Amino acid sequence: VFAASILAVLGPFLSWGDFLIRKDTRKELRQRVANIKDIPPNSRITFPFPQTNNPQIDGDPFRQYGLIRLPTGELRAYSKVCVHLWCLWDYFSTEREIQCPCHGSVYNPDTGVAVRGPASFQPYPNNSLPQLKVEVDGNGDIFVSQLDGRMGYGREWKRLLSGLIELNGASPGQEVTGYVPFRRPLTVSEVESLTSRYSVRPTMLYGYRGQAKEREWLKAETIQQAQAEMEGVYAVDVLGIPGDLLRLADDKSVVVVMLRE
Ligand code: FES
Repeated sequence: VFAASILAVLGPFLSWGDFLIRKDTRKELRQRVANIKDIPPNSRITFPFPQTNNPQIDGDPFRQYGLIRLPTGELRAYSKVCVHLWCLWDYFSTEREIQCPCHGSVYNPDTGVAVRGPASFQPYPNNSLPQLKVEVDGNGDIFVSQLDGRMGYGREWKRLLSGLIELNGASPGQEVTGYVPFRRPLTVSEVESLTSRYSVRPTMLYGYRGQAKEREWLKAETIQQAQAEMEGVYAVDVLGIPGDLLRLADDKSVVVVMLRE
């Protein structure tokens, strides 16, 4: 009776939604991180999110994110906490890999999905780094927001396939472009046989030539051009109908197929 009386008096003054459901404010924050001029292609910077400007709080490993500018110029912002046993990873530009120093997990920097080491054997979604949404404004300022996933746990990256699944139901004959990162670099001939096996056409190949520090990152619009220039291919854009792209996504050499906007 006492508790009920207290609630009756305080009820109108309480925000019950906030009180009963702990809101994850990180999903609503939008924070400036740097300017695009501060990050050369194929490099990374580390930043705290959400930033408080209190060094003790901002130094918490679970607030650390790595902003990577890929050789293609695209940006990715991943939690620095490895989903294996929570060490902090680093980006190795020569190998073009995210590597964890503790037990050797390696992540694909395009997707944040673990491709080697103990994290790669963990069941989905515990095999991929949580990711922030990244936007660049007209001045080149980079903003992050909307955490996708849980630090140290992973994210539901397979829902990237949901757009393709919907299209397969609504317009099964409409050709679309998908971005396809590989678990390990393929030769150009392997890419040619993989894409013809699933009846999709490569429209852009992302690869490299040279070893270690000499490595050069390349793009090619055709298989012939890639044959002439590349030693390895780490991803492709392909054109095909949604059903074929979904079959390709199940191939063991493929991480996932992301629908291009
Ligand atoms: S903590 Fe990263 S591989 Fe074990």
